Amino acid sequence: MLTAATPEDNCHSKPLHVLTVSVHCDCHYGRSVADETTSPLRPETFVVTAGRPPRTPDAPLNTPIVPASSFIAGGPMEYAREDAPSAHALEDVIGGLEGGSATVFSSGMAAAGAAMDLVPQGAVIVAPSAAYTGVAVRLRELHAIGRIELRIVEVDRTPDVIDACSGAHVLWLESPTNPLLQVADLPACIDAAHAAGALALVDNTFATPMLQRPLRDGADIVLHSVTKALSGHSDLLMGALVATDPELADRIRSRRVLLGGATSAFDCYLALRGIRTLALRIEQAQASARVVTERLRAHPAVSRVRYPGFGTIAAIEMTGGPDAADTACRHARIWTHATSLGGVESLLERRRRWALESTTVPESLIRLSFGIEHADDLWADLSAALDASLLTGS
Ligand SMILES: Cc1ncc(COP(=O)(O)O)c(C=O)c1O
Repeated sequence: MLTAATPEDNCHSKPLHVLTVSVHCDCHYGRSVADETTSPLRPETFVVTAGRPPRTPDAPLNTPIVPASSFIAGGPMEYAREDAPSAHALEDVIGGLEGGSATVFSSGMAAAGAAMDLVPQGAVIVAPSAAYTGVAVRLRELHAIGRIELRIVEVDRTPDVIDACSGAHVLWLESPTNPLLQVADLPACIDAAHAAGALALVDNTFATPMLQRPLRDGADIVLHSVTKALSGHSDLLMGALVATDPELADRIRSRRVLLGGATSAFDCYLALRGIRTLALRIEQAQASARVVTERLRAHPAVSRVRYPGFGTIAAIEMTGGPDAADTACRHARIWTHATSLGGVESLLERRRRWALESTTVPESLIRLSFGIEHADDLWADLSAALDASLLTGS
């Protein structure tokens, strides 16, 4: 029997304040408020207080941008591929939110590539049929050259995932998946991976730690495209890997040192500034997503709405096929026709316009990334664009 995860299976169904953050920061500039607080902080508080300089007279409120490749010998930083103040402050926040130790990379794909580099020659990796395109393509490339053996699963078919874990080295999950919005039963899948002796990695880009904390469900590694909701303003590329096990966290960091995917101090500053409002942005965008997806279900241009009930990303399939989808994207005025997701501005695109997108993604599927605009304006604009697709047909 196939069992899909219900919203109750993961912590994303709980209100934001139920998730608390108890990992203490190791802020380079000294102990921040988050360190000094004995009781666990709620994420809304943690994103604001963590990764700050100590409260000493004339200290800046914000962690300064430190544009340095090298540091005076004798301290813990040494060289910026290893550690750097601006990256360190951001890692404190991301690590604390997820409940582990974070390493930031120059993009989500740099983080994903570093995770792939951890596995031994010939490792068996179980992965979603429609993972993020870049991840899916890279895994297929590694399979083609014999570096790994790839087993493809539908992540919402828990028994299939459990079966596929037998003899595997890594279970690579995305939940919800991009762009089909399939939701995995994280605890059951992670348990199956561990029972098989495999590592469980969860790409948490879509849910964000505000709605889902995979490390708490036992995952070994969490992956983020920080480019998306964590930074939230579509102005930088960045990735992160987070792990609870210190030895694994060290191995991850050594991938950044050896593969070179370090971040710039300025981008870390921007990402840190963006993450301060993560809780507010997710709450607003999720509220709009819930309202608009309900209305979309009744629109004649839409044959299917994919929205798992939480999060800021949805997808629709069009009764008029790919041409109607392209027309709708062209007619949107408040929504922007552009790739990517998780920013303050709402974006939409037909995913199959990308040649490398998985063929399991319907040709007419439009992915919707909800920003923080008013839900009624988003609905008015989107429904007008959908109406236009009905009128013109192309
Ligand atoms: C779920 C997911 N993981 C990873 C990535 C890769 O991140 P980046 O574009 O920052 O390299 C993306 C990008 O869209 C994504 O959506």
